[in-house]
Parts: sequence; structure tokens; C-alpha cells
Amino acid sequence: MKRKGMPQFPKSYWQDSVNVERFPHLDQSIKVDVGIVGGGITGITTAYLLSKTNLKVALIEAGELLNGTTGHTTAKITAQHGLIYDEFINHFGVEKTALYYAANNEAKKMIKQIIEQYKIECNFQEQDAYLYTNSEDYIKKLENEEKAYEKLAIDYQMSDQMPLDLPIKSVLVMKNQAQFHPLKYLKILIEKCKENGVQIYEYTTASSVEFSKHPTIITIDRKRITCRHVVQATHFPFYDGEGYYPTRMYADRSYVLAAKVNQSFPGGMYKNAETPSRSVRSNGNVEEELWIIGGESHKTGQGISTYKYYEALHQFAEQHFKIDSFVYRWSAQDLITLDKLPYIGPVTRKQHSVLVATGFRKWGMTNGTIAAKIFHDMIVEEENPYRELYTPSRFQADPSLKKFVKINADVTKHLIKGKLEYTDSNLEDIKPDDAKVVRINGKRAGVYKDEDNNLHVVDTTCRHLGCEVEWNSGDRTWDCPCHGSRYTIDGDVVEGPAKEPLIKIDIHSN
Ligand code: FES
Repeated sequence: MKRKGMPQFPKSYWQDSVNVERFPHLDQSIKVDVGIVGGGITGITTAYLLSKTNLKVALIEAGELLNGTTGHTTAKITAQHGLIYDEFINHFGVEKTALYYAANNEAKKMIKQIIEQYKIECNFQEQDAYLYTNSEDYIKKLENEEKAYEKLAIDYQMSDQMPLDLPIKSVLVMKNQAQFHPLKYLKILIEKCKENGVQIYEYTTASSVEFSKHPTIITIDRKRITCRHVVQATHFPFYDGEGYYPTRMYADRSYVLAAKVNQSFPGGMYKNAETPSRSVRSNGNVEEELWIIGGESHKTGQGISTYKYYEALHQFAEQHFKIDSFVYRWSAQDLITLDKLPYIGPVTRKQHSVLVATGFRKWGMTNGTIAAKIFHDMIVEEENPYRELYTPSRFQADPSLKKFVKINADVTKHLIKGKLEYTDSNLEDIKPDDAKVVRINGKRAGVYKDEDNNLHVVDTTCRHLGCEVEWNSGDRTWDCPCHGSRYTIDGDVVEGPAKEPLIKIDIHSN
């Protein structure tokens, strides 16, 4: 049963409140200095920074710019990334953890400086970030995090009160963080890229990289972008180069609601320390204030009925705030690396001309911005203090190894389970606006019945490495439990690593 008052279809508030210019498909081969793949914050910021050099830059995107994770974030510009600093100190030591904090702080300064330089109206506001708990079990963890802040000389405050009216036992405040409207900000960077001569193409999918003297990006319709450097800012790298990224990351989904509320937002950005996760901020627009309420999370394709996650957030919001109405709901996908630190740098130790940025966990605004700065500095051969920290070829045995085994055992389980799974559903069992996996002539097929009773039928074998996709009822997509590829009801790719659509099945010819 769908909950009353919830928008019927998912739509991101960020995407709905800004118009971004559309760009053409690349229909010929080109030669540039830098070929950037991916139209989110990392790709666009890299293109913007390089557009101020004398390098020739092209930016391509498989779908439309700003339609991926950047368009579905909660858009906090903060170095407070949940309970992470105590864990990082235990794993990497104080020095490297301090670098991580510094990198994210520098990203915040970069964003602020760009906003001030171009006077970008993007609801940028400096806000304190609150990490709170209402669980006895987490008080100790929050105290350990406080000790980590102390060691890293982070400007913080520990309290048992906060401005937002939620029951809490303890809260750790990181001072002077920020929030903004990410798409209003990036829309201006796209305009600057265009003014500075960056060639921008949409609906252009990169499929691989070939090497001769220089690397060449090959698109799925066999156009070639020959360049000196390839930047992969595609969320999941489209070119692996035997870096085995699918075995070193997993995809996680989380959910967001935007609500009109009959009370004023007290300021601040809030996140709890425990699970299920909860995050609250405002859109920063006093005239049309919306509260952005996020949380819940699960590995992609393993959420069974994903609609229940929206319902849990709905219930949380109604329990604690004077909700007038819910106006948007959407979900986001994040990639998480073995040691929770993003991979930013050469795709493998030996391939310095192909750069990759991925695994930002849920903190893409700052990590994506610092990735762009690292790429810029690598390409123009300037020093960068964060290069070593983020390098994708690092290997830290603990806790990475245990996670490595778990992620891959999980993928193997899904690969086998999906193939063997018995389904006794029939086409007649499917209600309008619902989907089921059925067997058609012995073959596993995913069938969505739309509200006009039309059937949309796809082969459920994922085009990445062959796992079986699962129905995502909340977002009406087919999601892969192995590495997070997602497809529309007709099989088109919403999210990689898959590059090709699911195979459509014509039931009338079967
Ligand atoms: Fe890798 Fe589906 S995303 S098999």
C-alpha cells in the first residue's frame, strides 16, 4: 500500500528547481588534450579548472549532465562524514587522517571562493554540522570521535542539546561547515566551461580506452576521443584497466524526502551516528523553505521492497516535525571502497594517463571537488598534498581484506542465487504499476505492468557481469545486487557500471 501524501513518482528537488542547458551527442572523432567522462561535480569541476589553462578539454556524459548522484545528493559541504575520524586514525594513523580532514576543508574553501568570485546564487550558507545520537550504545563511539577531533585540532563542541527538536543523548558539533544548491552552483561552472572553450557532449557513452601513443576514449558508437589524459568521473569507472574496481567497492542506496513544514528550520545540518541513518537540513531558501530529510540505506538491489525505506523516512518526519506536505522524494546511490577512503588518481600503478575518482561514500560535494583539484594538479604537473592519500593503488590489509572477501562472496552468492531462484509468478499476478520476475519459455524475465496495463518485459541478466537484477519498487527500476547497475522499466541504463541496456523481450513473438 502506497502511503498517502507521498509523491507518486520519484523526482529530485535539485533537478526540478533548475534548468540546465542541453548539449549535443558527439557524432565525430576528436582530438583534445584532456578527455573527461562524467557530468557530475567531479567531471564539471575538473573541466572548469582545466578550462583556465591552455589545454584543450572535452567533457562527455552518457545521459544528461547533473543527472547522476550529484543531482540526488543531500548537498552538504562538510568534513563531518559520520563516525569516521576515530576509525581512520586507527586504520591510517593521525597524519593521514589529518590530511583527509584538510582535503575536505580545502574543498569547502574552493567552493566558497568560486561562489564568491562569480556571485553565484545557490543558497550557499555556512552552517554547523551536528552528529548526534539517541542510543546508549553510541555514546561511547561519539566520545571516541570527539577524542579524534581533539587530536586533529578540529573546531568542535560536545553537547547534549541542539537547535533541531529531536530526542538526543549527545551531539558532536563541527563548526562552520556549509550547504548549497549543487545544481545552481554547477550550472554556472558549466557556463564558464563553455565560455572557456570546453567541448561538451551529452548522450555520449564511453565504453573503453585504447592505447597507442596516447590514450583514446572509445564511445559505444565507435567515435574516438584521442587525448593525453583521460579523466574518469563516472561514479563507477567505465575503464577498469585491471584495477579490479568491482571487487573493491560496493553500491549503497539511500533515500530523501523534501517536505513543507509548519515550523521554521532552526539552522544547522544534522545526521545521526546510529542506524537507520537520519539526516536533516533545509533547502536554505527562506521564501520557499523545504526540509530535506534523508536516510535509510542498503546495498543496491538487496532492498526487497524499496518503497518501505521512503515510508520509514515519512514516519520519522511525521513523528518529529509539523509536516504540511511531502513535495519530493528521490534516492541516491553511493559507492563505498574497502577502507572507506575514495579512490582518486591513476587507474592502476602503471597507467598514469588514465585517472579515476570514485567511492566517495556519501560525501561527494567535498571529495568530488578535491578530486578535481588533484586531477588538475596532476595534469599540469603541480604538487598536491593529497595525491598519495587517495591513490587507488594503496593497500591497507586491515580492515580492507575482510571487506574484500565479504564483498566478493556476496557477489558470487548473488550471481548463483539469481540464476537458481525459483519463481512461480504469472503475468496475471502483476498489478498495475508493479513488477515481477516470471519465467517466459523457461527464461527469467522482468515484467513491469504500467498503469495502462502495458507490459514492459526485459531479460533480467545484468549487462555488466551477468548477475540477475531485482525490482526496485520505490524508484521503478531494475537494480543489480552485484555492483549497482540500474535500468529503467524498458532496460535503459540509469546507472553503471553496465554500459549496454538490458535485452528487451517481445512476449508476442515467444
Ligand atoms: Fe556488475 Fe550487474 S553491476 S553484474
